[in-house]
Amino acid sequence: MIAYAFLTTIIAMSLSTDQTALLSLKQHITSDPFAAVSRNWTNSSSVCSWIGVTCSSRHHRVAALNLSHMSLSGTIPPQLGHLSFLVSLDLKSNLLSGAIPQVLEILIII
Ligand SMILES: *[C@@H]1O[C@H](CO)[C@@H](O)[C@H](O)[C@H]1NC(C)=O
Ligand SMILES: *[C@@H]1O[C@H](CO)[C@@H](O)[C@H](O)[C@H]1NC(C)=O
Ligand SMILES: *[C@@H]1O[C@H](CO)[C@@H](O)[C@H](O)[C@H]1NC(C)=O
Repeated sequence: MIAYAFLTTIIAMSLSTDQTALLSLKQHITSDPFAAVSRNWTNSSSVCSWIGVTCSSRHHRVAALNLSHMSLSGTIPPQLGHLSFLVSLDLKSNLLSGAIPQVLEILIII
């Protein structure tokens, strides 16, 4: 029971790391003409149900981020590198500047 609670806490903390990383990205978006991210990425729903976000069923962590064709402007914050289970990042057809964190050794489409 204690072990179970402990494990649950670790999983919750880990997904909240992903949430913090994505909220940081949201804060760095200066223009979101379709209000995709600005309206949908809120704390009232799980990160895994956010637009463009796919969680792995195995780890229950953010595994893919697909914000392609959303006409987003802004910068990519280094906190995006905290998505430690991310395997796919698609940012095609946006105006996002800034470096993709080097810790991400994944499929990246820009
Ligand atoms: C965000 O978008 C997803 C997918 O379209 C939807 O299921 C979810 O309810 C939306 N959440 C909010 C807070 O609008
Ligand atoms: C959303 O949740 C994060 C982390 O739990 C918190 O830091 C942030 O202040 C919250 N934002 C809002 C608008 O409630
Ligand atoms: C991202 O979404 C677009 C539109 O749905 C799709 O065409 C594209 O293949 C997706 N990218 C990845 C890496 O799955």
